[in-house]
Amino acid sequence: MTQPEAACLLYFADEEAPAHRLAKAAGLTALAIERHRFPDGELKLCLPVDARGRLPAHAVVLRSLHQPNEKLVELLLAARTARSLGVQHLTLVAPYLAYMRQDIAFHPGEAISQQVVGGFLAGLFDAVITVDPHLHRIERLEQAIPVPQALVLSGAEPLSDLIAQRRPNALLVGPDGESAQWIAQAAARHGFDHAVCIKVRHGDRDVAIELPTLNAQGRAVVLLDDMASTGRTLALAARLLLQAGAASVDVAVTHALFAGDALKALHDAGVGEVWSTDCIPHSSNAVAMAAPLGQAVRSVLPP
Ligand code: R5P
Repeated sequence: MTQPEAACLLYFADEEAPAHRLAKAAGLTALAIERHRFPDGELKLCLPVDARGRLPAHAVVLRSLHQPNEKLVELLLAARTARSLGVQHLTLVAPYLAYMRQDIAFHPGEAISQQVVGGFLAGLFDAVITVDPHLHRIERLEQAIPVPQALVLSGAEPLSDLIAQRRPNALLVGPDGESAQWIAQAAARHGFDHAVCIKVRHGDRDVAIELPTLNAQGRAVVLLDDMASTGRTLALAARLLLQAGAASVDVAVTHALFAGDALKALHDAGVGEVWSTDCIPHSSNAVAMAAPLGQAVRSVLPP
């Protein structure tokens, strides 16, 4: 009799291509979760069980959490069902992890979504693997998602490798204080000159930015950040850098959220190229994360 697989990678149809890349890198079989939406909007999932109606003892769920709200319900249904079907060790690979920016109540009554969503995911999974989560006031992922195994990868170094090929003498600039961690990693890898701006946010699309002391005259500047959402942060930084004499401004981000007209806002501001990792599928993807994610998956799976 054939032995059942010891581990598998579960994915949803809209992430079929990245799931197969990750499964190959991790040495797992990729199995699709079927999803049906009822006319009233509710969801029904069907997990890919074997002939005995069971799943392997170890399973990995791939779900990148851009547009996260419905995906959180999918994870609830999938994880609880997987447990009932025999999964003992369950890993979430969320290349983009949502709700990490709301890490404090700025006004009385505001939800601290990082803690709420982090606690929710910790109740479902044994291990969480992600890339450049937006951790600002805390240092470690397990402080936000208290799971036994919390692994953080970074897009900063692979993006730095790409920048070294495309703009060998780049001046790396971070648009705000929070980007300093990624700027430091990326600059150290190839010895890039670097600096970080000061940003004050007044609203979703309203930011003020002050350039640091730097000589941008004639430089090929690359703005590097963990994510672009509305693109307003990077667009304003690009305008200021071009006004300060930069020869060009390109953009590199780990997470290509690019909500609404974000890309247009960047190009209107004078940005040339836009590069991102494939943590969120987007036309700007230029750096593949499957290999490091696959290695991380192998490191958390029980023997
Ligand atoms: C926050 O500090 C992040 O690192 C990004 O700078 C921010 O989320 C970008 O937002 P937006 O593209 O909407 O300006």
